[in-house]
Amino acid sequence: MSPTASYDEIAEWYEHAFLAQTRGLSEHPLGIDVALRTLLGTESGPCLEIGCGTGEWAGLVRELGWTPFGVDLSAGMLRYASGRLPVARADATRLPFASSTFPAVITVMAHTDMPQYPGVLGEAARVLHPGGVFVHVGVHPCFCGGFVDRSDPNAVVIRPGYLDSNWTTDSWTDQGVRDKVGAKHWPLPNLLHAFIDAGLMPDRLFEGGTPVPTVLAVRARKN
Ligand SMILES: C[S@@+](CC[C@H](N)C(=O)[O-])C[C@H]1O[C@@H](n2cnc3c(N)ncnc32)[C@H](O)[C@@H]1O
Repeated sequence: MSPTASYDEIAEWYEHAFLAQTRGLSEHPLGIDVALRTLLGTESGPCLEIGCGTGEWAGLVRELGWTPFGVDLSAGMLRYASGRLPVARADATRLPFASSTFPAVITVMAHTDMPQYPGVLGEAARVLHPGGVFVHVGVHPCFCGGFVDRSDPNAVVIRPGYLDSNWTTDSWTDQGVRDKVGAKHWPLPNLLHAFIDAGLMPDRLFEGGTPVPTVLAVRARKN
């Protein structure tokens, strides 16, 4: 099944069951909100979210002073997002925007959905203003993925598999997204090199989730 078809199928569950678990908490347990507050910061101007899903982060982006805009491949996810921010249905590898359109671009928990993530970073760089900010928030390449068993938060088990980048639906839980739609794992050097190769220079990092981080966030600037 293609990733788009998968998200179309789970959109209702994602919006009403998966996201509902963390909505209304004072802080997101994986630190996604803190990552965005810390790395994106408060400024004004249009901010593009690539892979915006149901638009969960539009409110926070707006609260920080930005004007959110979203793109996603899944019409099912966008049905919810369109009530929260202006959206376009588009493939992240071919963004329907002119070069240097946005002062800020973000992706949140989406890079493992994108086997062409290096190309997506290239597109993010293209549509960013020179000096613009790119914020990536994603699952932590070292402590999260099909090779990790997080069923006991106090004893996270890393199994062989970190070096395997194949698409997988392996997951320690059947209550999450990855057992349903699958994921592509990016070892840490591959991920960071993809930023650098796209001309997005990392200048700040953030880890979220305890007691072992679940999220790695990166802020980078376009050269
Ligand atoms: C795990 S969801 C994250 C959604 C949202 N950012 C959030 O944090 O709730 C990943 C999203 O990436 C989208 N996606 C996957 N591949 C894509 C592509 N090539 N172009 C645009 N969106 C894509 C999926 O449709 C899905 O909505």
